[in-house]
Amino acid sequence: MIHFGRSSIISGLFSFLIFKIDCMTSKEKQVSVSRMIILFLVLLNIITINAGYTASGKWYWALIVTLPLLLLAILNVTQKKHAVLRNFPLIGYVRYFLESIRQEIRQYFFESDLDGKPFNRRQRSIVYQRAKNEKQTVAFGMQSDPNAVGSEWAAHSVYPISLGADDLRVWIGNHLCQQPYHASIYNIGAMSYGALSKTAIEALNRGAKLGGFAHNTGEGGISEYHLKGGDLIWQIGTGYFGCRDEKGKFHALAFRKNAIRPEVKMIELKLSQGAKPGHGGILPASKNTVEIAAIRKVTAGTTIYSPASHSAFNSPEGLAQFLQLLRELSGGKPVGFKICIGDKQEFIDICRAIKSTGHIPDFITIDGAEGGTGAAPLEFTDHLGMPLREALPFVKQILGELGLSNEIRILAAGKIITGFDILKTLSLGAAACYTARGMMFAIGCIQALICDSGKCPVGVATQNPALYKGLDPTDKAVRVFNFHLNTIQATREMMEACGFPDTKSINPSKFFRRTEDQTTKSFEEIYFKRKKERMEQNKIKSLLN
Ligand SMILES: Cc1cc2nc3c(=O)[nH]c(=O)nc-3n(C[C@H](O)[C@H](O)[C@H](O)COP(=O)(O)O)c2cc1C
Repeated sequence: MIHFGRSSIISGLFSFLIFKIDCMTSKEKQVSVSRMIILFLVLLNIITINAGYTASGKWYWALIVTLPLLLLAILNVTQKKHAVLRNFPLIGYVRYFLESIRQEIRQYFFESDLDGKPFNRRQRSIVYQRAKNEKQTVAFGMQSDPNAVGSEWAAHSVYPISLGADDLRVWIGNHLCQQPYHASIYNIGAMSYGALSKTAIEALNRGAKLGGFAHNTGEGGISEYHLKGGDLIWQIGTGYFGCRDEKGKFHALAFRKNAIRPEVKMIELKLSQGAKPGHGGILPASKNTVEIAAIRKVTAGTTIYSPASHSAFNSPEGLAQFLQLLRELSGGKPVGFKICIGDKQEFIDICRAIKSTGHIPDFITIDGAEGGTGAAPLEFTDHLGMPLREALPFVKQILGELGLSNEIRILAAGKIITGFDILKTLSLGAAACYTARGMMFAIGCIQALICDSGKCPVGVATQNPALYKGLDPTDKAVRVFNFHLNTIQATREMMEACGFPDTKSINPSKFFRRTEDQTTKSFEEIYFKRKKERMEQNKIKSLLN
């Protein structure tokens, strides 16, 4: 009797369900997936209870899974925040999960050697290989298409030369400087403790010490992890971290205290950076730990915005004077400023003020629009600033026209990963280069593109101890050293093949780019010749007027 009764209930419920689905498909002409899922789960729970009742009590254990699933599905359809979960309870989570591992899936399964942005697999792999001191070669030939528009190459010589090991250094410091710095042509780009973890900063600094090259602190100030023996370029941004008073204004004595440290070899004043020119800095609350807040003199656990502009000066002359003040306070160390070129006239005005005041900085760092950052608004990253390859020739030309080329060295940053990248950059006017993201790869960055979440899986760009403890600074320091050494070695070999006896002789007439299907132009023609012609035409015009 009882058994019969139960069967009737179940078959009744089945008929009801089928009736409901039938109604949904026939009346509304649309199947509501959410209702189907809920009905399915209701049914599943009823069947489970029935099985527990009729067959074996063990079936009741299944309710531990089926009942919460039903409750969760009901919660999903009743909430109003996520349409995907409201329309597709439970299965909507699959979408969220796949979305969260999209970058990894793409990298592991679908990415070809020339895919991947901002750095393709070939670029990332060469850094990993050089950092691990693994093979320095690639097999079976070129992967890119040499006939494609945009393809670039350098002219080698039939008379290769041989260079000494210490050829790839440059002196930075003009006649006003009392402590010139003999810099490597390849250095660690600006990245703060805050954007990067303490273990990452320590690894970079130790690597710089091993290799005898410089480590730019980034605008977040000097922490104990920066003081592991590597040469420092101390960067000062609009937040004046490490040299500010309680109100966030520049504080001369606090500056001097840090500037005269023996580790600090040069001072770089940041005006703007390529990934977010004119925006100021953002330190997300998740990365603003108690320790970082103490170094920066801000409140822990809050999002810190550095202002977009400097409070210490507001004119080109003011900038020149401020740079001179920094030089004097630091005891005559090389000073310079970092800029991503935007309004060309503003840069020309700065150079004119430098000339007229006589306060000539020792270097100018040019950051390309293609530069990276920990966190920035998309509009700023994608649509503001001049790319490095255009900015360098412009800056070189302006310094030349104003007779400042011998006094001011140009430093450059923007996706400079290989020896060829370094040589191209030098040919366009730079004396030395930075690599920021290249060094991140060297210490294990996998380009997960989540620096702004605080969840960097390899402990490079996070303040989560559970994650950054995975990065061993001593081991990764060797990788930083290897990457630098092997990249310099590759640069030197290319210079030898092209017959460049020193970095000064690397010139743009030896580098080429396919600009159209059947047209190839040298960098000289692309970046300098038209400008020269225009200058000559302007001269003739002014003579005629
Ligand atoms: C995580 C991260 C943090 C950065 N922090 C700074 C900074 O504090 N100051 C700065 O001037 N540039 C900063 N940058 C920009 C780099 O210094 C560099 O100019 C830019 O990324 C281009 O070089 P790259 O292509 O070698 O990365 C940061 C970049 C990254 C990826």
